[in-house]
Amino acid sequence: MTDSDVELEARLVEQETFEPPESFIDQANISDPDIYDEFENNWPECWERAAEFLDWEEDYSEVLDASDEPYYEWFSDGTLNASYNCIDRHIETGRKNQTAIKWEGEHGSTRSYTYQELYREVNEFAAGLRSLGVEADDVVTLYMPMIPELPIAMLACARIGAPHSVVFAGFSAKALATRMNAAGSAHLITADGYYRRGEPLDHFGKAQDGLADVEHTVEATVVVDRLETNSFGHDLDDNQHDWDTIINTHQGARVDPVSRNAEDMLFLMYTSGTTGKPKGVKHTTGGYLAYTAWTSHAVLDLEPGDTYWCSADIGWITGHSYIVYGPLAVGTTTVMYEGAPDYPERDRLWELVEKYAVDVFYTAPTAVRAFMKWGKSHPGSHDLSSLRLLGTVGEPINPRAWKWYYTNIGNESCPIVDTWWQTETGGMMISTLPGIGEMKPGSAGPPLPGVDASVIDTDGEQISPGQAGYLTVEKPWPGMLRTLYQNDERFIDEYWREYSDPDAGDWTYFPEDGAKLDEDGYITILGRVDDVINVSGHRLGTMEIESAIVSTQGVAEAAVVGGNHEIKGEAVYAYVITEDGYNGDAELRESIIEGVEDAIGPIARPEQVRFTEELPKTRSGKIMRRLLEEIANGEEIGDTTTLRNPEIVDEIEAKVSSD
Ligand code: WTA
Repeated sequence: MTDSDVELEARLVEQETFEPPESFIDQANISDPDIYDEFENNWPECWERAAEFLDWEEDYSEVLDASDEPYYEWFSDGTLNASYNCIDRHIETGRKNQTAIKWEGEHGSTRSYTYQELYREVNEFAAGLRSLGVEADDVVTLYMPMIPELPIAMLACARIGAPHSVVFAGFSAKALATRMNAAGSAHLITADGYYRRGEPLDHFGKAQDGLADVEHTVEATVVVDRLETNSFGHDLDDNQHDWDTIINTHQGARVDPVSRNAEDMLFLMYTSGTTGKPKGVKHTTGGYLAYTAWTSHAVLDLEPGDTYWCSADIGWITGHSYIVYGPLAVGTTTVMYEGAPDYPERDRLWELVEKYAVDVFYTAPTAVRAFMKWGKSHPGSHDLSSLRLLGTVGEPINPRAWKWYYTNIGNESCPIVDTWWQTETGGMMISTLPGIGEMKPGSAGPPLPGVDASVIDTDGEQISPGQAGYLTVEKPWPGMLRTLYQNDERFIDEYWREYSDPDAGDWTYFPEDGAKLDEDGYITILGRVDDVINVSGHRLGTMEIESAIVSTQGVAEAAVVGGNHEIKGEAVYAYVITEDGYNGDAELRESIIEGVEDAIGPIARPEQVRFTEELPKTRSGKIMRRLLEEIANGEEIGDTTTLRNPEIVDEIEAKVSSD
């Protein structure tokens, strides 16, 4: 480090608050702080402001219908179509030649779609879906890598009113089958493969294995030929079709956007929860699209003509809301990249920021920590001056990583929005507004205008500043999940039971995150308080991983916790009891890891597998994961008085330290 670096670092370490630069404020979509009062004093009508970002076919007469809490409905007698709102209307307003999607393959091949070209292919694929028998309200599963056909398929589904259920391409065959079975989905769109760190991956092979476990008849599968080589030599059955053939057969086809009620389902997204079974989060058309468009405008500061890049995968909610629906609804250019951030070199992302002159960049803290480790010479060798705003999402960002991002990517002239939200919330809920709020590294900021989030103690009382408590949301918002697919009971249990008082007509949403509040109303998220862990910004259920481990031959019982990890944020630590007659050896460890990859995918791969004779349990037999977490993190062990077998804690600890 040079002297000036040392000085800069020393100054930044001490600096606790940062003001948005004047140059940003001058051009910001929102820069008047009165917006907070305007929303608060005019709630729920304030949400019309979000609905105004959309073109409605039939206007709605009521903003919020709260007659059947907590089954809130938004703009509920309005009708619209999401595909029309993301494509057609931009063409009608003279922007047909503006780029909608810019795609870059890992090997440097590129594709670009203007809004007109997107319109054409979405229409052709929508016609193709219909020809395969897809009707409005049929759930179509998309198991696809980061290629343009993924957003095209999503928008084609939206066009004909068929909800999509996107399954992350990194998930295993079994995970695909579980989700298709849960949704009763009879149509699958997938791809032959994709590239990851230079290697072609056999994705269709995985999809086929998944299809073999689907319990109902799958009527049709469409396969994109991404690798263009048929490297893996798969043949297609009669009900399996090649994407290009479908498109060519429907060349020039036009499909009128199907009129959808605001409360009709737009998509399902399966996410991890406390039990082993993923939850099918249901999002609807009007509220979700209005909310993602509004937050794209207010928080990401997007407008037509901007080039915007969110480096997440569309297989997660971040990609749905902020690669596809929000950015396209507001008519921006959205960038998609297929591959790994360090391929072929560790400057790949910065090369792309420079090449496409990206204005706004949104990523996960785990990526920022990796960039930091790789060193600043990588961004330093590129011209990043096109950037005007940076964002993070998915997990807490530590102040050091925040400051590194601010200095080395943003050149101290871009605000950073640290956005807290969830699959269930549909869009951002807590963040500074980049043209208004002072930034405090490590703290997401105040709730967005109109969002009524607070931090409370176990009795439901507001905590005092500086203390830790539970994050709750007291009022509904348009982007909220409507229910868990075909499981209203679990919807109530998971999100509403804890802090609501139905008899008093009081409904409070509980996101299962811990949080802290400061004197200025800024919220610092402390992480999940349920059995969900966050590995590299990916949400995983410990129960799902445990059930994969216990189905490995030779395993009797397992407990999984998240241990701190320098880059990933959290990593999977598994504590395993073997069956009599099996040794906890390297071979068993290997088959446990394979079992997890098989059941979920490589992202859930345990960082460590430790064999133990017992697990710390309470007298009622509940595993005390907190203690295992403390052991994993080498922290001081807390209270063990409620344990049935307190001696086991020392035993596990001793084993760990002797390894
Ligand atoms: C965590 C991702 C701290 C949180 C959009 C939440 C965050 C879970 C932040 C949802 C943030 C998300 N700061 N923690 N800015 N954003 N989280 O459903 O624990 O994949 O409950 O949605 O990620 O993860 P999900």
